Amino acid sequence: MKRHVLVAGVFILVLALAAGCGGDDDDTPSPTATSAAPAPTATTGGAATQPPSGEGDAEAGKALAQANCITCHSIDGSTLVGPTWKGLYGSQVQLESGETVTADADYIHESIVDPNAKVHKGFPPIMPTFNGILNDAQIADIIAYIKTLQ
Ligand code: HEC
Repeated sequence: MKRHVLVAGVFILVLALAAGCGGDDDDTPSPTATSAAPAPTATTGGAATQPPSGEGDAEAGKALAQANCITCHSIDGSTLVGPTWKGLYGSQVQLESGETVTADADYIHESIVDPNAKVHKGFPPIMPTFNGILNDAQIADIIAYIKTLQ
């Protein structure tokens, strides 16, 4: 008789354990991980391409001229506010002062940083100075570009 009680007790214990385990089943994990998309940050700053030395880069000079100069200077021989650049390089320029100068790199450089130092005859001295706006390398680029406009 004692043995039956023991078996019944073990049976009840097993039932109780099974019921206890069953309770864990409705524990459903909720998804919580959210991955924020990384914002794009890479910006490509245009690396300044510098020519090896001395000589300017005509392509860069063309871009600078288009941004700063072509409202007043044509490259096709027509006169706008200022003289055309076509054939300028190496030509003889008559000045308001009565002098004649050769349009070499020095003259062109001076005309850009100090436009009123030598004024092309027949034109108003209204060109703005680019001193402090264009650096020497950029001016060399523009001179290289003007050289190509023959
Ligand atoms: C607002 C109009 C204007 C702009 C903008 C301008 N220029 Fe001029 N430029 C003139 C005038 C007008 C002259 C002629 C009078 C003089 O010699 O200063 C001249 C003269 C020159 C000369 C001398 C040419 C010659 O035949 O003697 C050069 C070189 C020159 N400019 C380069 C430039 C460059 C490079 C830029 C841009 C970075 C520029 N200019 C922007 C009006 C302008």
